[in-house]
Amino acid sequence: MEVQKSKYEGIYSINLKNRRLIATQSITPGKTFFNEKTYKENNYEYREFNPSHSKLASAVIKKISLMPIKKGDAILYLGASHGYTPSFISDIVGKGGMIFCLDFAPRVVRDLLFVCEERENMTPILADANKPETYKNRISQVNLIYQDVAQKNQVEILIKNLEFLKPKGYALIAIKARSIDVTKSPQKIYREVEEKLKEKLKIIDQKELDPFQKDHCFFVCQKK
Ligand SMILES: C[S@@+](CC[C@H](N)C(=O)[O-])C[C@H]1O[C@@H](n2cnc3c(N)ncnc32)[C@H](O)[C@@H]1O
Repeated sequence: MEVQKSKYEGIYSINLKNRRLIATQSITPGKTFFNEKTYKENNYEYREFNPSHSKLASAVIKKISLMPIKKGDAILYLGASHGYTPSFISDIVGKGGMIFCLDFAPRVVRDLLFVCEERENMTPILADANKPETYKNRISQVNLIYQDVAQKNQVEILIKNLEFLKPKGYALIAIKARSIDVTKSPQKIYREVEEKLKEKLKIIDQKELDPFQKDHCFFVCQKK
């Protein structure tokens, strides 16, 4: 086994005899939450980051030009669900960072709570991302917004939350074409999304996530 740093901060590439995978260095060695495989080298534990379970992992495998999450970052995560991707971002930002993990579904937030209890840099928030006024007193200004809510009005939700993003901060958004309009081709939807995002943000890169995430496109944007 060989562990190498990748070109993305906090993401490692692990070469096994028969396959290659990406991973993060765990801030909770000995504890996993999603049955992910772990690998040990030089007293560090690495958690396999699966592109079939995470749009961020698929964007990395598809070589997005910039993955702007850094050690120490404060992050607003809209659509945190059970916490799979947030837990890997938690490894990347490390103990000095903070992720405000927001989701409006009580059933998934119950699972998310267990992950947040073990990871000091993750805070759960049960709230609707359409209503920033209901949680604005519970979060700080952030370096990055990550959004994966799979809703028809995804772009509008992101725009409503830009008030929390620091100047020159980044926004990562995973667009699910079928949630926006099943009758249009995904490519047409991505073009429409691009136009809307461009009004408010600078688009740095975009990548379609097939075959890992069918009919999804991942955008990396920056506040102007
Ligand atoms: C595709 S899942 C997110 C998966 C997660 N990002 C991951 O990679 O581990 C979408 C989540 O968005 C949540 N969601 C959808 N609309 C929302 C809204 N308006 N406010 C908050 N959460 C929302 C859903 O409850 C669901 O858990």
